[in-house]
Amino acid sequence: MSLFEIKNCKKTFNGQKVLDDISFKINEGEVLAIIGSSGSGKTTLLRICTFLECMDDGEMWYLDNQVVSSSSGRAKYIGQDDLSLDSLNKNKELVKIKSYFGLVFQSFNLFPHWTVLKNVMDAPISVQKRNPNEVKERAMYFLKKMGLEDKANNYPCELSGGQQQRVAIARALCLEPKIIYFDEPTSALDPELTSEILKVIKELAKEKRTMVIVTHEMNFARDVADRVIFMNDGVVVEEGNAYDLITNPKKERTKRFLQKYNE
Ligand SMILES: Nc1ncnc2c1ncn2[C@@H]1O[C@H](COP(=O)(O)OP(=O)(O)O)[C@@H](O)[C@H]1O
Ligand SMILES: [Mg+2]
Repeated sequence: MSLFEIKNCKKTFNGQKVLDDISFKINEGEVLAIIGSSGSGKTTLLRICTFLECMDDGEMWYLDNQVVSSSSGRAKYIGQDDLSLDSLNKNKELVKIKSYFGLVFQSFNLFPHWTVLKNVMDAPISVQKRNPNEVKERAMYFLKKMGLEDKANNYPCELSGGQQQRVAIARALCLEPKIIYFDEPTSALDPELTSEILKVIKELAKEKRTMVIVTHEMNFARDVADRVIFMNDGVVVEEGNAYDLITNPKKERTKRFLQKYNE
């Protein structure tokens, strides 16, 4: 079953085409890696998938819910008349659909003045309106799973980068999402902490969690992802089985990109 689909997504910033006709699906239980040079539009794409940014034109679905349709060459978001971020933030129709996904950023994005536990518990209570006792139990469960049960009452600044990123992953998991998006989850970490985080994500893949991971870790993408999308200059250049695409790319542009990782 497809949990998510985006079709012909287009995005321009100040006259610069950043995404041009991007289409892909995410199936249940699948790990999709998105690779590509810096500036190719990966972050913008994830931000559009997670309603942090509006697309200009295209279509988008979460399960059976069509969130965006295309009307006269413009995106039409369900329950809103324009394409402003302000409307997107206030869009009540999207609130339920937002709980289908969690998002882990490169820079962790924890609230510095909140404890680890509060960081993990906040959105399930304030956004998803779940019972605080139930949420606390789940938060502690996921912190334990991330090896952080003894850090629940610490503040983010008291943790290493790897620990902070594990808190961010626990926070995403505590939303009980159907899909977790990761935007370069290890780019801010040194090699040792990177492997610590990659190990955690690998475990989640073993549990058959549906994940979309923007990454520069090619060996990880080859070994952990099912499918890979290679983006360049706002378009999908090549898409395919992860092992095949990374070890035997078909397109010249993909070959050149991957070559850099073998030098
Ligand atoms: N909010 C924004 N305003 C203007 N330009 C942007 C904005 N966000 C991204 N861009 C531009 O879009 C292009 C793609 O950026 P990005 O999606 O961050 O790529 P990647 O994540 O692949 O490095 C870049 O040229 C970047 O400068
Ligand atoms: Mg990026």
